[in-house]
Amino acid sequence: MQKNLCLLSIVLVLCIVADKRTDPWPLIYSPIPVTIIVWMYLGLVWAGPRLMRNREPVDLRVVLILYNLAMVGLSAYMFHEFLATSWLSNYSLLCQPVDYSSRPLPMRMARACWWFFLSKVIELSDTVCISFHHW
Ligand SMILES: *[C@@H]1O[C@H](CO)[C@@H](O)[C@H](O)[C@H]1NC(C)=O
Repeated sequence: MQKNLCLLSIVLVLCIVADKRTDPWPLIYSPIPVTIIVWMYLGLVWAGPRLMRNREPVDLRVVLILYNLAMVGLSAYMFHEFLATSWLSNYSLLCQPVDYSSRPLPMRMARACWWFFLSKVIELSDTVCISFHHW
């Protein structure tokens, strides 16, 4: 009972503080998709070393090089977007309230934040790769 109330209040808070502008964007309308992804991640990281115990390590060198190049590109893009958007929006260096309007610059900042979130989801895959490689 206590636990259910706690869970219910977390869900309510997540719905109330949700940013309506980003509702159509992938993975962030509700906490469920990312929760499923994290459980899949935990399952794969658990299963990887067990499946690979008596097998040759999968050679992921090319995949990992391409993956790292892509992540460097994505990080450079996000760095540029955060810097350019906060500069153009005259952000304070100390504390900047969130602008929930749909004007271009606040939307651009929301998009940069979404890419940052997505990059964290993508980065889960490097641990999965490591668990299937077994060093
Ligand atoms: C930022 O400041 C500049 C110069 O004061 C001004 O021209 C510009 O409109 C401001 N931008 C925003 C988004 O407030």
